[in-house]
Amino acid sequence: MNSLVTYQVQDNLALIGLARPPVNALGQPLREAILQACEQANADASVRAIVLYGANGLFSAGADISEFGSAASFAAPNLPDLCLRLTCLDKPLVAAIGKLALGGGLELALACGYRIGEPQTRVGLPEINLGLLPGAGGTQRLPRLIGAQAALDMMMSGAPVSAGRALELGIVDRLADSPEQLLEVACVYARELITVHAPARPAERFAKPAEGLAADFFERYRSENEPRWKSRLAPRLVFSAVEAACVLPLDQGLAREVALFKQAEASSQSEALRHVFFAEREAGKIPGIDASTALLAIGKVAVVGAGTMGGGIAMNFANVGIPVTLLERQGDALDRGLAHIRKTYGISVKRGKLSESTLEQRMALLTGTLDYADLADADLVIEAVFEKLEIKQEVFRSLDRVCKPGAILATNTSSLDVDLIAAVTSRAQDVIGLHFFSPANVMRLLEVVNARETSAQVLASTLKMGRTIGKIPVVSGVCFGFIGNRMLEPYAREAHRLVLEGATPEQVDGVLTDLDLNMGVFTMLDLAGVDVNFLVRDANRAAIAHDPSYCRLGDELYSMGRFGQKTARGFYAYEGRERRNDPDVVAAAERLAAELSVPRRAIDKQEIHDRCLFMLINEGIQLLDEGIALRASDIDLVWINGYGFPAHLGGPMHYAEQYGLDKVLAGILHYRQSLSEYGQMWFTPAPLLERLVAAGKTTIERI
Ligand code: CAA
Repeated sequence: MNSLVTYQVQDNLALIGLARPPVNALGQPLREAILQACEQANADASVRAIVLYGANGLFSAGADISEFGSAASFAAPNLPDLCLRLTCLDKPLVAAIGKLALGGGLELALACGYRIGEPQTRVGLPEINLGLLPGAGGTQRLPRLIGAQAALDMMMSGAPVSAGRALELGIVDRLADSPEQLLEVACVYARELITVHAPARPAERFAKPAEGLAADFFERYRSENEPRWKSRLAPRLVFSAVEAACVLPLDQGLAREVALFKQAEASSQSEALRHVFFAEREAGKIPGIDASTALLAIGKVAVVGAGTMGGGIAMNFANVGIPVTLLERQGDALDRGLAHIRKTYGISVKRGKLSESTLEQRMALLTGTLDYADLADADLVIEAVFEKLEIKQEVFRSLDRVCKPGAILATNTSSLDVDLIAAVTSRAQDVIGLHFFSPANVMRLLEVVNARETSAQVLASTLKMGRTIGKIPVVSGVCFGFIGNRMLEPYAREAHRLVLEGATPEQVDGVLTDLDLNMGVFTMLDLAGVDVNFLVRDANRAAIAHDPSYCRLGDELYSMGRFGQKTARGFYAYEGRERRNDPDVVAAAERLAAELSVPRRAIDKQEIHDRCLFMLINEGIQLLDEGIALRASDIDLVWINGYGFPAHLGGPMHYAEQYGLDKVLAGILHYRQSLSEYGQMWFTPAPLLERLVAAGKTTIERI
């Protein structure tokens, strides 16, 4: 037997173990091995039932994602055909689902007539996260097993369900008491089936999956959800497939599913989302760090500064059971910080996402203090005080005095030089940047700033810790603004300048949201604070002094006290949550344009797109060339998880690749000419972009 599966016959049972580490991804060789083994068992007269299980505990994480987009994806036996064949065997087939059955893995299990899990089992159809739909019968068989509504919910969310929920829904028939007992209990189940002469496949529980649904269910579902889908293709295809399950016989439904799946697989959105999947895994691979790098234990954390950021950071640790000491200078600020955390947890309780007792458990993990001495035993200290170098350096001097040797000292700066912060301590090897994004308890991005002297051990330990608290850690080198904010700078600069030249904030934001960004530049600045943005700019005046028009509108709004949403006035005017255009902003832009002799004109969408996006991309490529980012896909992760760039466009670097690097370069050169002096000042192609285009490369890499 092929080494990708194990095969043994015990009494009347054939036990087929999937053995393709790490996750039994169902690539062509494994599919073939499963088919062969099942045929062998089917043909063996001594075998009366078959048990399919994960030889290393885990059942299967689904189709092999690396096959998509290549011929291997549908190479024989393809997954739909394999599943179909399993449904036609003469003998009962029991899937023993250890740990995980995701995507094609669950579809394989659904092709088995009987399923059993264990307490840690999770099952799900996460294809939508890859811009796909379940393509091996899942969209047709799951609605027939658990009903259309529940199946649609699972496919649309992509989130796995627990063992208990899977049992409740009827996805598994029973649960073993422990993972260790799963195979044994599956064999008992199979023998029971033999004893009672159970059919190879039980009758469908929901022969008519839409039964019980309102007549206008699908119509209403679509109209309610379509705005959230924006321009994403996959939800629409999932929807069509489930609708088909409700109106077509199984064979026709399966054929429809395959057609929809192929459409999804060939889409640029799925290609982008698959890129993001692998980018997330790549981001953890850092030169100089491997499995042999010893990790520092992080059992106690301290956060300096109990403001919104510090509080949000502290919550991340409390959420996973790690105690946190929160330090403030004044008792009232500390009380306010702790009260704010309680209030934030309280909102989750009100929404039914957290129980009252969990709230109390988490609050009990948070201890406030006004005394640095109380940070002496922390394994990790994160400073989250005002964004000013001198203030942060003062904090680090204090930390250097009180913290135990070997403690990791992290700064949450969003733009300052971490080397200069490390330099005031006697232990620069222990200092690192941990840039959380606001709200820090929600946003998944964590920029990990590897300073000049940061040790490999400290870097590896913080990366691991970042994953423990559910973040996507991405390593950046030291430079102004690191990866994310440094790229934000030219992007926001162009947005400001476009408004001086005649666009409105709404037009600029509209182009960006049409691209499915979560929000446009100006909405984002109003949310983050026009004042905060001004202060960051102000700290960097020397670099922009040669351009008197540089973000002048932002400076002007700052001087008018229009700080954004918090003052109900910024680039827009706000009434409660309502946002509206404000003629005063246009008037200010007109006034400034006249003062600066910037000609005003009508600006079209393409120009807004090109100037904002090309400058963003150009800066990203420059960061890669400088080695601030390790790889282009890291930059994509930063912008997807920290700045609302749509994952289905793959991030700005992947977007540039799909758009055409030659077109991006040509666009930059065009504006360099057409925008005269301003163009000469800012539209300079990154040398790496020029080298890539000259070399005929279509992907962004360091050359
Ligand atoms: N295909 C190919 N490789 C996969 C894979 C898959 N389905 N799932 C995981 N891997 C690989 C990862 O790339 C990683 O490889 P490297 O070590 O070389 O980087 C390795 O397996 C381990 O994965 P993780 O680092 O993610 O490990 P984890 O323990 O944190 O998570 C997991 C494990 C929950 C299974 C997670 O990897 C995951 O969510 N995988 C994807 C599941 C999925 O989306 N399945 C649906 C596939 S599409 C499908 O099945 C279509 C269909 O209908 C036919």
